[in-house]
Amino acid sequence: MCGIIGYTGRTQVLPKLFCGLKSLEYRGYDSAGIAFYDRNAGMMCLKEKGRVSEVEALADDYEKNNNTKIDAFCGIGHTRWATHGKPSDINSHPHCTMRVSIVHNGIIENYAELKDELTGHGYGFVSETDTETAAVLIDRFYCDTGDPVAAVRKASERIQGSYAFGIIFHDRPNEIYAARKDSPLIIAEGSDGNYIASDIPAVLRYTDKYYRLEEGETAVLTPGSVTVIKEDGTRFTPEYCKITWSVDAAEKEGFPHFMLKEIHEEPRAVRDTLSSVLSSDIEAFFRENDFDSINIAACGTAMHAGLICKYMTEKLARVPVNVYIASEFRYQDPILSERDLVIIISQSGETADSVAALRLAKERGARTLAVVNVVGSTAAREADHILMTLAGPEISVASTKAYASQIAVMYVLSVKLALVKGKISDEYASSLISDISDNVPSAIDGIIAQKDSIKALARNFLDCPSVFFVGRGLDCLVASEGSLKLKEITYIHSEAYAAGEMKHGTISLISEGTPVIALATEKDLLLKTLGNVKEVKSRGAYVVLVCNEDDIDSIDRSVCDSIIALPPLRSCFAPFTAIAALQLLSYYTAVLRGCDVDRPRNLAKSVTVE
Ligand code: G6P
Repeated sequence: MCGIIGYTGRTQVLPKLFCGLKSLEYRGYDSAGIAFYDRNAGMMCLKEKGRVSEVEALADDYEKNNNTKIDAFCGIGHTRWATHGKPSDINSHPHCTMRVSIVHNGIIENYAELKDELTGHGYGFVSETDTETAAVLIDRFYCDTGDPVAAVRKASERIQGSYAFGIIFHDRPNEIYAARKDSPLIIAEGSDGNYIASDIPAVLRYTDKYYRLEEGETAVLTPGSVTVIKEDGTRFTPEYCKITWSVDAAEKEGFPHFMLKEIHEEPRAVRDTLSSVLSSDIEAFFRENDFDSINIAACGTAMHAGLICKYMTEKLARVPVNVYIASEFRYQDPILSERDLVIIISQSGETADSVAALRLAKERGARTLAVVNVVGSTAAREADHILMTLAGPEISVASTKAYASQIAVMYVLSVKLALVKGKISDEYASSLISDISDNVPSAIDGIIAQKDSIKALARNFLDCPSVFFVGRGLDCLVASEGSLKLKEITYIHSEAYAAGEMKHGTISLISEGTPVIALATEKDLLLKTLGNVKEVKSRGAYVVLVCNEDDIDSIDRSVCDSIIALPPLRSCFAPFTAIAALQLLSYYTAVLRGCDVDRPRNLAKSVTVE
């Protein structure tokens, strides 16, 4: 949520800032801005409501109107997802005072109190943001101390909430100062200078060496050095980790959108994730720890992956699993002890509510396991145990390959736990594992091969006000994720229902032509689900049936208007293929409606505020 980039070095800064910001736009995209030191004009700030390309145009206009070339080697940039103050030119970052320019990710909770105090000292404010209070506070302490690190630290002591800051002090125009608390920030060392960024994709083109700033650390970057200062004042030069993601992984590689590219990557992501989880010590972990319950806390799509874990683990291992929406975890006052396992599922590993749930679980003495896609992310660092999804960078805001990878982990977890608990035999566990490894990736490819017919189907959804997704068992859980995908990127209202529950209320919303997407992939539940489909069909619904290829012949075709046939797969693994089909359907519907698929309105990829 909100993207930060900064660079100080030996080459021009503007291309680096714009390139970095464009690769961070998935974190927020309602406004953008840059501040930099121009060798002719001094400190400059260009910012605007809108996309990064609009700020790029501002820089071009400036050069044209002044018949000059911007000549700058140090600067910071920001792409915003508004929290305090609507998206507007004034509320965009950087926020600048006489002495400092800053970009911020996070929320300053006590901003109103700080603003009152600073107003009392004669400071004025122009924006509605919380960030401006931090800029003014740092300015004030810099005025008092003349020491940038002291100013940042004194300000940090007064600030309640979360922050990642990139700061330029105007009388030190080749230096960038950085600090963080509860909001991610990396430092990266390139051959021609040093960078700060809120996420790895921003620097992928320039370097593969990064350091994740720890809580409470402050960093000073010059063109040739990076110094990190710990809370106790100790200074050190960071030891860099190697970025393993390739540049291509964060590029569209010929696809019109990241979302389509990422759906195409699902077979690879599932394969890689399975091989990593299967070679992990998860079985030993379950052997060493006998848990009474499993509790999952996650948000959005990741929470839907948790639902699959509950279903499979309760079925196979007979261990109770509770799934919590992470933002509700603390209010439900979960009963936890060291005999309980709390699993945090998070693509980014930075989602504020998921991290807060992880911390609460630890406070209550539970063992914690993070299933994350980003090495070194907050959840990965704070959990007792980690399992990595190897989806690679997911750029599109709507999660696709991360979900496929997360459910791959969930299946392995449930099988391993069932095995350790003695609920299934070695043979059965091995057959499930070899089935998922050998057959799932190619079955997803089979769905991708049907993309043209799914695209044709999407035309039926163009102008409908509402869509319903229904299913039983696992299908009901996949329906929730399918419905989320549709509403996220097409802005069509949609709801997911247990097929049998429709008649207890929601069926009153079905009228002539209302689209209902019915998932019926589980053989045992097929007839019952078809019964529910008939109920909506006879009330005029336009029904798309998602079912197994093998079952088509036995189905009375009059129950549906269209069919998406899933390639043969063991029934319990159908969520992989069913969701790929629903992702493609949402994708093509969004494209046909002219929506900004990768950056849907009001959303952000990494939600680092609670
Ligand atoms: C945001 C994203 C979703 C994602 C959710 C949780 O809402 O738009 O795609 O599922 O956050 O993110 P996480 O990084 O914790 O998986």
